[in-house]
Amino acid sequence: MEQKSTSKKFYELNMAERLSALGSEAELSDETLRALSGEDGLTAADADHMVENAIGTYALPLGIARNFVVNGRSVLVTMVIEEPSVIAGASFMAKLVRAGGGFTATADAPEMIGQMQILDVPDLERAAERLLSYKEELLHEAASIDPVLVRLGGGPRDLQVHQIASSPIGPFLVVHLIYDVRDAMGANTVNTALETLAPRVAAISGGRVHLRILSNLADHRLAKATCTVPLSELAFDHFSAESVRDGIIAAQAFAVADPYRAATHNKGIMNGVDAVVIATGNDWRAVEAGAHAYAARSGRYTSLSSWAKDKEGNLFGSLEMPMAVGIVGGATHVHPGAQAALKLMKVGSAAQLAEIIVSVGLAQNLAALRALATEGIQRGHMSLHARQVAIAAGASESQVNQLADQLVAEGTIRVDRAAEILEEWSQNPNGTPIQL
Ligand code: MEV
Repeated sequence: MEQKSTSKKFYELNMAERLSALGSEAELSDETLRALSGEDGLTAADADHMVENAIGTYALPLGIARNFVVNGRSVLVTMVIEEPSVIAGASFMAKLVRAGGGFTATADAPEMIGQMQILDVPDLERAAERLLSYKEELLHEAASIDPVLVRLGGGPRDLQVHQIASSPIGPFLVVHLIYDVRDAMGANTVNTALETLAPRVAAISGGRVHLRILSNLADHRLAKATCTVPLSELAFDHFSAESVRDGIIAAQAFAVADPYRAATHNKGIMNGVDAVVIATGNDWRAVEAGAHAYAARSGRYTSLSSWAKDKEGNLFGSLEMPMAVGIVGGATHVHPGAQAALKLMKVGSAAQLAEIIVSVGLAQNLAALRALATEGIQRGHMSLHARQVAIAAGASESQVNQLADQLVAEGTIRVDRAAEILEEWSQNPNGTPIQL
């Protein structure tokens, strides 16, 4: 899909114009556009079927990140996020990456891990051996819970047994059931399989099956994105391309070495990842949990991404993390906005969605590091932040931009100062804002 160039840039259009531009660019129906705009989004009645004690719905901004090319395909990325600068940052970095050929991304087979904790096992070693000798029978039984999934090529793949030799409650066994869930996130399938297998596992092991639950450390289901930013794309203002590149690489070293920095570095990645995960109705707590557990897999929490100089002197980035997302079932199915987001991104499989998400995470990381390694993040943040402050102080639509500009120019972006300026404007006999 070619991204159409209009005389005005996408961000310069008003919301209605952006929606209409998107409709023609991505060939979306009016129904899909209404779902994206929220006009025909999740209803209170839908919400009532989704959670207990529902009393309504809760809206967040939805924006479009542009310029993404993932595995050679242009993608208009839907992002749901309340934080300013994230969507602009992703779009801008995707443009730099596009100059280097775009993102290359891969996703593993959609295999989730389900865990069973087996207590009161008389002999760990013997029970583990017995469970493994019954592997085929157990996998066969696990397959029987979802014949449709098996027909689609999914189903149980493996059964592993781990021994916890000592713990405060004594020794116990942990069984891992590896299950290919195809285009689903997979929690329901895996949890059902575990509960189905539990009595047989108890009988074989001679123990008592305690917990039966999916693991969010979905490290069989990794997604990976890489990108090359041509050196020539990195220079801006008075910053040379080499200084930007080397500044990003130095920032990377900080995140690798120091968990305090790694947490923030990875938070920047999750700004992009979560925004797409939420927009598509997926479980962002699951993705967050998996990401941070994976970041600590060596025993020390570290960076999920890496940035280095390639042989030609360009900036090469990569990001690998678990990506348990689906395009069927759950809120993905129920939420009209999530359905519309999948249509806009023209996503045909969970793997394809995972590839887009991990690319957005890498772009977001680049945006943060590029800003931090040069001018700092505050300048970019301030104008949008000032607009939020202006709105919070009660500015009308026609006053918001001018008030925000004045707050930025004064360097005092606070609601009390914004309210004071509004008060000054209201005292002005012409009723027009006083120019600085
Ligand atoms: C803010 O939401 C995210 C950053 O802190 C990420 C980072 O420091 O890398 C800017």
